[in-house]
Amino acid sequence: MSAALIELSGIERVFHVGDSEVHALHSLDLAIAAGEYVAVMGPSGSGKSTLLNLLGLLDRPNAGTYRLEGQDVTTLSQEEQARVRSERIGFVFQSFHLVPRLTAAENIALPMMLAGIAPQQRAARVAQALKDYGLENRADHRPDQLSGGQRQRVAIARATIMQPAVILADEPTGNLDRATGDEVVRLLEALNHRGVTLIVVSHDASIGGRARRQLLMEDGALRHDSGIAS
Ligand SMILES: Nc1ncnc2c1ncn2[C@@H]1O[C@H](COP(=O)(O)OP(=O)(O)OP(=O)(O)O)[C@@H](O)[C@H]1O
Ligand SMILES: [Mg+2]
Repeated sequence: MSAALIELSGIERVFHVGDSEVHALHSLDLAIAAGEYVAVMGPSGSGKSTLLNLLGLLDRPNAGTYRLEGQDVTTLSQEEQARVRSERIGFVFQSFHLVPRLTAAENIALPMMLAGIAPQQRAARVAQALKDYGLENRADHRPDQLSGGQRQRVAIARATIMQPAVILADEPTGNLDRATGDEVVRLLEALNHRGVTLIVVSHDASIGGRARRQLLMEDGALRHDSGIAS
């Protein structure tokens, strides 16, 4: 059995819009080991988000296989994919994607509610997460009552509450000022130090450059892979 956490082979993703066809990913092969810190870089439209969405089981390839922890996840049903997503994958997005009418605490609790975790355990884990991310006195605030940095900390708490194997972050600092963005990157890096695989999309070289491995996308293909640093 392979030691790779993520293994993509021969991935194709084609979008059809009207008569035109966009080959967003083309014969992509990629292996990522557990615990890696990977930056995905490249120009706008090069396929970075498409790749991340496939890795996060938010989208399916037109061809190729995706193995996650040795399991072929391309052939799973919607329900099975949702379960893998909920248990193994955490997402952080540029625009936070919090539920507007839920409080910070409720947003963080959401993945545990969907997974059917008992209320008492939920409450204890939410309390700990609020503490870990310095949000204790913002628990009852809705997203529109939080700063950008606080929103992204809620999003990170929500992404990690189920203790996923991998965190996928798409431009996580894109809507934040430099100082707040750096703080968010440090929080993600702290998770990676504890063993969580971290994959960050960024077109900011100063952020991408912090990762131990850089992937450069161009026209839906992997143009360069700095490889796994030893
Ligand atoms: N749902 C879709 N339908 C049609 N075309 C799409 C869809 N999603 C992405 N594309 C196209 O696929 C290509 C890759 O898009 P993608 O969002 O992966 O780029 P990106 O590298 O993330 O760019 P950015 O840095 O601007 O976020 C683009 O040409 C885009 O227009
Ligand atoms: Mg994108």
